[in-house]
Amino acid sequence: MPDTPPPESVKLVITSLGEMKRARQPITSVTAYDYPSGRLADSAGIDVVLVGDSAAMTVLGYDSTLPIAMDEMITLTRAVARGVRRAIVVADMPFGSFQVSDETAVANAVRLAREGGADAVKIEGAGPSLSRARAIIDAGVPVMGHVGLTPQSVTKLGGYRAQGRTAEAAHRIVDEARALEAAGCFAVVLEAVPAPVAARATEGLAIPTIGIGAGVSCDGQVLVWHDLLGISTGHVPRFVKQYGRIGDAIGLALRAYVADVRAGAFPSAEHTYPMPDDERQKFEKT
Ligand code: KIV
Repeated sequence: MPDTPPPESVKLVITSLGEMKRARQPITSVTAYDYPSGRLADSAGIDVVLVGDSAAMTVLGYDSTLPIAMDEMITLTRAVARGVRRAIVVADMPFGSFQVSDETAVANAVRLAREGGADAVKIEGAGPSLSRARAIIDAGVPVMGHVGLTPQSVTKLGGYRAQGRTAEAAHRIVDEARALEAAGCFAVVLEAVPAPVAARATEGLAIPTIGIGAGVSCDGQVLVWHDLLGISTGHVPRFVKQYGRIGDAIGLALRAYVADVRAGAFPSAEHTYPMPDDERQKFEKT
């Protein structure tokens, strides 16, 4: 398959995102899991390409984000990073890679940066994650926080449901976002929280908030690649806007290919390498 690298452009740095917040310039983000998705996102002008552990579900077929391993995240991150020239590449720290201790968190964050080529990592939660974030940042790897619906805690949260819907829970989320900022995070993802909660966090923080199901007040928005493009099967969360129906287009193309091969209509002469007549005749005689 012919492929061209994205056009040369100036690489964004982590501090660019803070400048965008101050200039009220919305930050765009999408997940990507391989070289072509990284390249396409970058060429489209996406600012932050997130190698999400949602890959466990979207590309590896698990029914939660928990099973994906560090080595798998590194392989995916490396592929995405090869396709990205301008955007900031953030790699998710998978379940089990940072929960145990600050030391393992630092070692795994460094692997994602050094072996995977990530510019930064993302960790879910506050509480113990605050000390992990500080340790990783001290080791030289920028950290993005993530509060609200944190899929690695899906069992504890009782399912994939919106968070912060009582005043008390809303305050807790805003406090967690503040604590992540104080720990040194350069941005924080707010997932599946009511818009007023995200608005409060956004106005109270100097670092950008990146929302997914958190309303329009966030400094930026992120969506999962398969959701945005209409490739996901099954339940589509309320916060998803499908900007394409690529899954349907892929299905149509594959069915047309199957029909053509079965009917002998593919490959036709135009898809076949010619042979000079004299060589062909010689070949057929021998
Ligand atoms: O893993 C992921 O895709 C994420 C986004 C939903 C923010 O964490």
